[in-house]
Amino acid sequence: MSGNKHLLIVAHNPSVNTQALVDATLRGASHEDVDGVEIRSLPPLQATVDDVLWADAIIFGTTENFGYMSGALKDFFDRIYYPCLEQTEAMPYALYIRAGLDGTGTRIAVGKITSGLNWKPVQDAIILQGEYRPEFEDQCEELGMLMAASLESGII
Ligand SMILES: Cc1cc2nc3c(=O)[nH]c(=O)nc-3n(C[C@H](O)[C@H](O)[C@H](O)COP(=O)(O)O)c2cc1C
Repeated sequence: MSGNKHLLIVAHNPSVNTQALVDATLRGASHEDVDGVEIRSLPPLQATVDDVLWADAIIFGTTENFGYMSGALKDFFDRIYYPCLEQTEAMPYALYIRAGLDGTGTRIAVGKITSGLNWKPVQDAIILQGEYRPEFEDQCEELGMLMAASLESGII
């Protein structure tokens, strides 16, 4: 359908748990109550400049590794930063971080890059910290639905 809004999900999924988080995000974004939003979900190493230019909003998911975002998500930002800088002003985005212990370094690092791009966080980063809990999937599902519903209604 033309006139659809476009939601891009760029999430790193190196484990069963992190795959469940991506699946939950996608499930929320695809909720039957939301119309007119097309969704594209890609791992960071596969997401390109064209995907970002296609998007009206983006959800990022990453693990925290060595106090930073995953190398895969960093590679994504390295590739898209300058080609997108002038064309994606005020892109709404959200971020979830799966962290064994912390998550702060990742939140700060992604925030610096997205500030440089002049993108706008829709909400604070969600840090899914500690031993894995199924409720993390509920948080991701809610995030997916919130972003899709916000695009549908024109709030973002
Ligand atoms: C190489 C490596 C480095 C990691 N570094 C951190 C870290 O700095 N901070 C943190 O909170 N968790 C760290 N973790 C834990 C990961 O965030 C966690 O394993 C990942 O989110 C997957 O979670 P899962 O066990 O639920 O699949 C690290 C894991 C690996 C494998």
